[in-house]
Amino acid sequence: MSRIVEVRGLRYAWEDGTEALRGVDFDLEAGQTVALLGANGSGKTTFALHLNGLLKASAGSIQIDTLVLNDKSLPVIRRKVGLVFQDSDNQLFMPTVLEDVAFAPLTAGLTSAQATEKAMAALRQVDMEAKAHKAPWHLSSGEKKRVAIAGILASDPSLLVLDEPTTFLDPPGQRSLAALLADLPQAKILITHDMTFARALTKEAVFFQEGKIAARGPLDEVITRFDWY
Ligand SMILES: Nc1ncnc2c1ncn2[C@@H]1O[C@H](COP(=O)(O)OP(=O)(O)OP(=O)(O)O)[C@@H](O)[C@H]1O
Ligand SMILES: [Mg+2]
Repeated sequence: MSRIVEVRGLRYAWEDGTEALRGVDFDLEAGQTVALLGANGSGKTTFALHLNGLLKASAGSIQIDTLVLNDKSLPVIRRKVGLVFQDSDNQLFMPTVLEDVAFAPLTAGLTSAQATEKAMAALRQVDMEAKAHKAPWHLSSGEKKRVAIAGILASDPSLLVLDEPTTFLDPPGQRSLAALLADLPQAKILITHDMTFARALTKEAVFFQEGKIAARGPLDEVITRFDWY
């Protein structure tokens, strides 16, 4: 197995001085899925934002697929790490679904025809081909989430990081998202407060506490240890 993520001694303080990450060490192997649990404010989203360089660490290192994250590797790492935001409205911004999903391949240098082909393939993967010409803001929450995932798949990522992906979804939508993700071969980090969803996709959890990883192990053991149900 090859290592997809290697994080060492990661620290981050927000501009107001809040120490959101206080020394995080984390590894993930290719194809592995882990649930990232922890209280509100424990640093999960801050951690996720570092994995594709949206935030720059105060200290520590991040390696993705053997590439050290720095200014030079940033464009490649952005494509390797697909971050799916909690609120899809922060992710979808083009006039049509197809243009939105084709955006990353286009900026990566593909021709318009190639980018369209790539985008349609990604939309097919998430079963949203039929909505390709709709405006993203006319979609339901579940549909938006699928389109946001397609937008990331179009860059052929090695890692998917999903920040509370079930928040706006009804129970059938949550199940169908779990089924969709289960079929994707990429390594996955699932930030979630939804234990049914976590259980559907992995047997392993990491527990964040005050900007550090307090535990990592079998999901049910972690849930029991921290009364997380
Ligand atoms: N833009 C910001 N400016 C200053 N502090 C911030 C900012 N965003 C987050 N924080 C702080 O950083 C810490 C970690 O927040 P973060 O959003 O990473 O937590 P989280 O684990 O994702 O929580 P939740 O479960 O509520 O999503 C918190 O103390 C929070 O108040
Ligand atoms: Mg969060």
